[in-house]
Amino acid sequence: MFKKLDILDEKDPHLRKISIDAKLPLTDEYKKIIDQIIKELTYSQIEEYAEKYDLRPGMGLAFPQLGKNERIIVIVYEYEKGKFENYVFINPKITSYSDEMIATEAGEGCLSVNRDVEGHVKRHARVTVEGYDVDGNKIRVRAREELAIAFQHEIDHLNGILFYDRIDKNKPFFSEDEIRLI
Ligand code: NI
Repeated sequence: MFKKLDILDEKDPHLRKISIDAKLPLTDEYKKIIDQIIKELTYSQIEEYAEKYDLRPGMGLAFPQLGKNERIIVIVYEYEKGKFENYVFINPKITSYSDEMIATEAGEGCLSVNRDVEGHVKRHARVTVEGYDVDGNKIRVRAREELAIAFQHEIDHLNGILFYDRIDKNKPFFSEDEIRLI
């Protein structure tokens, strides 16, 4: 049986708090929640299931979006049509990033933001992220492009930041000369 997660809306105060480090290794309860998140994010990116369960497509979720202010993020990245790679990072930190900035041309979305927000969100084109897996082993990934954006978006959630906070109100859109749009 597939049961949908209760994802909090942007107005919920949990989304504006700075989350604390999660205790490692994670409890079985937390591991179960992570499995549920992976399942839902995967389904949401497969049209047939997205329709069946009425899921808005999303590639990432952070624990504060479930009302748990602990530093845990999950990303399900479709690296090739129909092929997914899961990234579960506990207490993640960006340890290096490129000077080059990018933005997705269509803007960003968030499963907690149930409306369209227009504007380019400036992100580093490449980031290195270090953290821990669910058992407390140190892990590290070098992410680029869309995946790098996802990591920055989810880690922002751990610091109470929503993507539209990073849109410049006076200049919400960039041209191709100013920033590389992907
Ligand atoms: Ni989000």
